[in-house]
Amino acid sequence: MKFNLIGAAVAAGVMALVSTGAHAADCNPSKTLADDMTPEQAQAVYDCLKDGLYKGYNKNAKAKEGKGNLATYARDFRDWTVAAKFPAAPGFHGSRFLMTYVNSVGADEYLKYKDENVNIPAGTVIAKESFKIGTKGKGKGKARKGPLFLMEKLAAGTSPKTMDWQYTGVLPNGKPMKFNPVKACSKCHMENFAEQGGLGYPIEEARIGN
Ligand code: HEC
Repeated sequence: MKFNLIGAAVAAGVMALVSTGAHAADCNPSKTLADDMTPEQAQAVYDCLKDGLYKGYNKNAKAKEGKGNLATYARDFRDWTVAAKFPAAPGFHGSRFLMTYVNSVGADEYLKYKDENVNIPAGTVIAKESFKIGTKGKGKGKARKGPLFLMEKLAAGTSPKTMDWQYTGVLPNGKPMKFNPVKACSKCHMENFAEQGGLGYPIEEARIGN
């Protein structure tokens, strides 16, 4: 399958990434690893970025006011169930490495990674942390923090077009991502994952239990 639907807003999110600073520089894998990291190497970069990512998502609290539960999710998601064994790069979400967490409402159902008859309860929230390893020019081999992508399952019938999923996100500087959720997010999820309830799931090797 070829996906070329990365929405303009996702691209905008990429450009809005904050620069990495000295601390993140310590997290860089060697340049030769940029294109082809093992799970262990990806995990090592994540371990190094972890505290900084969390701090970043929780900055700019004011900007998150009035944006639903963004501030609460940014604060709490690390206490949710981990739904991936290591951060994996599926080639989506702008070639980012992604680490997935699911709140207690939907964790059991999500962790079945079902490809049909998915029955995710309303109130489920899924958070996906991200980082990127540059592949070109000066940024080659450098780790860069990425957004926290969020999906929340609304009450049945609230948004049939998106299978009742609400898509939001927080930038590495803590500000809410701005995008058209249908064009930037739901379109790809619906076109590719409608049979599995709109869920993409981590790549197989990264699934818990595999
Ligand atoms: C080009 C296709 C594409 C677009 C556009 C896209 N996603 Fe995804 N999304 C995926 C894929 C593939 C996965 C599974 C990959 C993984 O988890 O490693 C995924 C997984 C997720 C997950 C984890 C839950 C799940 O489905 O397993 C969240 C949360 C998420 N995306 C949010 C968003 C948000 C928010 C946007 C818009 C800013 C967005 N996505 C745009 C393809 C896309």
